[in-house]
Amino acid sequence: MKTKITKAVFPVAGLGSRFLPATKATAKEMLPVVDKPLIQYAVEEAVAAGITDMVFITGRHKRAIEDHFDKAYELEATLEASGKRELLRIVQQVVPKHVNCIYIRQAEPLGLGHAVLCAQPVIQDEPFAVLLADDLIDGEPPVMRQMVDVFTQHQCSVLGVQDVPRAHTKQYGIVASSPLSLNLEKVSSIVEKPHPNVAPSTLAVVGRYILTPRIFHHLQQVQAGAGGEIQLTDGIAALMSEEPLLAYRYRGIRYDCGSKLGYLKAQVAYGLKHEELRDEFAAYLQMVS
Ligand code: G1P
Repeated sequence: MKTKITKAVFPVAGLGSRFLPATKATAKEMLPVVDKPLIQYAVEEAVAAGITDMVFITGRHKRAIEDHFDKAYELEATLEASGKRELLRIVQQVVPKHVNCIYIRQAEPLGLGHAVLCAQPVIQDEPFAVLLADDLIDGEPPVMRQMVDVFTQHQCSVLGVQDVPRAHTKQYGIVASSPLSLNLEKVSSIVEKPHPNVAPSTLAVVGRYILTPRIFHHLQQVQAGAGGEIQLTDGIAALMSEEPLLAYRYRGIRYDCGSKLGYLKAQVAYGLKHEELRDEFAAYLQMVS
């Protein structure tokens, strides 16, 4: 097995129904936080982790994602002609030159596990990253970089985790684990979206994974689970019968941009960090609070 992570999978075929009508004709991953779409934050995080091949698992109505990471000839020519050099630079730097974007269509929305399985022809026999763009995580170094460092040291699958209120376990994959060091746990079991009364802990998997290619074997076998979908969590549970699995408590602040409240919090946090906007925005927030 190759030991370097060079490929990342971005499952982006979801319907985004929680953001209707905004997502009626566009992908939820294209919703911007201040001036950048969610998917671009995720790709930048992967680039910062040394990843060069971005594999998007797309569905219908996701053309905007492909267009976003493509060359925009007319736009670039217009910006060039009008001397808008800074904007031209921003547009050209959406994808660094050394990065490849690969698109695979997930014909049916059969679940996150199925989406990851769709990437097998491109990933083949390598460990790889999975990033869910609606989990926007502000970390320094960026969280996938932190996780690649953990993988480099331990050479096994790694899940990004954080503690959540017990009442929220129904929204996440939840792990049972024992501590290895300050930020690292050895996982003994994992279950998708357990009821708070039966959840084995409150340590939740967020949308960051590093997985060994053996996961594909298990994803081919798993039956539909929670919500009638082929769950990545169930594939990971099966993988654990063969390989060690680590849970890494990342350093960073996560915004659940799959929910309206989380998305609004992200807008405020990133607005307050934005070079051009932060002073005026902070003054405005103070005025209205
Ligand atoms: C997915 C996974 C879940 C994970 C969560 C993180 O759920 O199935 O295990 O905890 O992402 O955001 P979803 O949010 O797609 O329902």
